[in-house]
Amino acid sequence: MVVGLGTGSTAVWFVKALAARALKITCVATSTATAELATSLGMAVAELGETAEIDLTVDGADEIGPGLSLIKGAGGALLREKLVWEASRRCVVIADAGKVVQTLGQFPLSIEVVAFGHKITALRICDALGECDIGAAPRLRMKDGAPVRTDGGNLIYDAACGRIEEPAALAFALKSVTGVVDHGLFLDLADQALIGGPDGVSRLEP
Ligand code: A5P
Repeated sequence: MVVGLGTGSTAVWFVKALAARALKITCVATSTATAELATSLGMAVAELGETAEIDLTVDGADEIGPGLSLIKGAGGALLREKLVWEASRRCVVIADAGKVVQTLGQFPLSIEVVAFGHKITALRICDALGECDIGAAPRLRMKDGAPVRTDGGNLIYDAACGRIEEPAALAFALKSVTGVVDHGLFLDLADQALIGGPDGVSRLEP
């Protein structure tokens, strides 16, 4: 079996639990951090595209909205995550109950952009948000005084959208901006969500 491994604090629990079972599987990681963790735990990690189709990917999320629409990307791995998710036959999101929302957008939306001309790209992102009646000003993600770089060497802008009434329209508008590599809206990708709460785990379907 080929298993896609997500990124983030929730995915770390999954990777550790999977490693503990010592199964004969090959893994495809969604970030350098996850690849390093999996390798350190003795798991076989392959590059995306080097294996047969990915059977199952398990990953966290920042927000889970109606129809299992998701916001992802707080960990900066959204591009590799989306590449792995889209190459997977089945995707399961794992999260705590606090991440389930009626409308996406309370959590800032991550938008990955190429570094060249990123300030111009940010203006175009503003326009795209405006087309969707979202007045947020995207903010360049910084850490220790320097822009955060993704595993692919790109930059990330975060947009505090508030409410995303039409996620599909926003996804389209953002992908239409030259310089935008991808965004953290994961739509029609999750097959199931396993939500942990005080009373145990509940399952959500699209
Ligand atoms: C990584 O880029 C993200 O998409 C994470 O999967 C998401 O932010 C959830 O992370 P936590 O499990 O740490 O909340």
